[in-house]
Amino acid sequence: MALWSGRFEQSVDRFTQRFGASLEVDKKMYSQDIAGSIAHAKMLARQGVLSESDVERIEVGLLEIKHEIDLGRFKWDVNDEDIHMAVEGSLIDDIGAAGARLHTGRSRNDQVATDIRLLAKDLITSLLTENYSLRKVVLRAARKNFGTVMPGYTHMQHAQPVLFSHHLLAYFWMFTRDFKRLHDAFVAADANPLGSAALAGTTYPLDRHYTSELLGFDHPIPNSMDAVSDRDYLLDLEYACSVSMMHLSRLCEEIITWSTTEFGFITLSDSYSTGSSIMPQKKNPDFAELTRGKTGRVVGDLVSLLVTMKGLPLAYNKDLQECKEGAIDAADTLRDCMILMEGMIDTWEVHPRRMLEEASLGFTAATDVADYLAKRGIPFRKAHEIVGELVLYCEKHKVGLEDLTLEEFQQASPLFGKDIVGELDPEGIARARETYGGTGHDAVREQIREASKSLKRDRRQTKAILDKREAVRRQA
Ligand code: ARG
Repeated sequence: MALWSGRFEQSVDRFTQRFGASLEVDKKMYSQDIAGSIAHAKMLARQGVLSESDVERIEVGLLEIKHEIDLGRFKWDVNDEDIHMAVEGSLIDDIGAAGARLHTGRSRNDQVATDIRLLAKDLITSLLTENYSLRKVVLRAARKNFGTVMPGYTHMQHAQPVLFSHHLLAYFWMFTRDFKRLHDAFVAADANPLGSAALAGTTYPLDRHYTSELLGFDHPIPNSMDAVSDRDYLLDLEYACSVSMMHLSRLCEEIITWSTTEFGFITLSDSYSTGSSIMPQKKNPDFAELTRGKTGRVVGDLVSLLVTMKGLPLAYNKDLQECKEGAIDAADTLRDCMILMEGMIDTWEVHPRRMLEEASLGFTAATDVADYLAKRGIPFRKAHEIVGELVLYCEKHKVGLEDLTLEEFQQASPLFGKDIVGELDPEGIARARETYGGTGHDAVREQIREASKSLKRDRRQTKAILDKREAVRRQA
């Protein structure tokens, strides 16, 4: 019989029991559940609600259960609805009456909310750590390939030559914003619902500030009804994961394109590629594709929780049981995809000659040729038109701007001089864009300095979180 079976005359149907259970998913948060119970028990002792000896027994019993689960020796009972029932039921079996006093002034509603918040904080901490490593790898690649010029694109058409490092750093900054979003989700999760009981608080003199301190929460949540029914922090987490996956997916799309025969800008290492069962020559960027594909699932996790939450009245409703799986899935998927991306970037082979070759094709110097005229007094719009006609002329004659003679240039405008040749070199073009945030060498050097500063700042933030977690564990 379930722990709540007092007012029931029949036990639930086998099928409905399984339908209503969340034990399988909950197993991922057994250590959080046990930590929450120990904090609750310690607080009850300090407040004189439970005796010191009961709480000692409870703590020893809970730690023993944790040990058993850690080692995979714990006997899970399929009839347990969730992790809270499984742990408490086993504690009562092990230590008897003291165990049966643990649930004083507590409900599974504040218990589950506490567990998920603790779990979310742990998941986010590992995502912050991985985000940091990924950005380190991207920054390293930007430094290593400094000077390599590639075509920059708009509309997937050759636009202007850019440094490959500049292109990579664009992703660095996307991932930097992901860090902030994840960190914000951490802050949202970092509040303590324990002590809210079922929905209204309790008549026992609970000290919610003390359990907050024991569990490492920043503060107790000020409204018990909000505390048991709020899952916004999971939405924040899933949104942060979705955006980060979207960024990874965009990079994957580029990696897939760059490694085609047509582009040939990079070759992925064998360890990040797969073959074909029929075509012996194939080397496929499966893992980049899979990351792109998994993005859909993570976005689905976000949408699914939004829809679950919509229309829920206060306070706890069983619908909320559905919120865990997607959040864990989103975080696990993002973590794996970041690890994969790090390896992919760290081991790819870059082909600078191929990139440079493409960088001058497609009239990528056209803007600089127009600027050349504009700097000599022709209004830019007019210069744009002249160079547009030159490009048309080139297309008709199937040549590039660099193939034109000085006479041909001068037919378009007498202002062209011999030095126009200097404007056509893609390396020079990329180098010349020294505006802050541009692709010029000095501008990118400055960007690299800022990137490395942002990494240091974020490492300090992650370290503060890890240090606090360590301190809380040591004190426990
Ligand atoms: N298994 C439930 C969940 O995950 C725990 C809380 C259940 N509370 C209740 N009153 N049925 O949400």
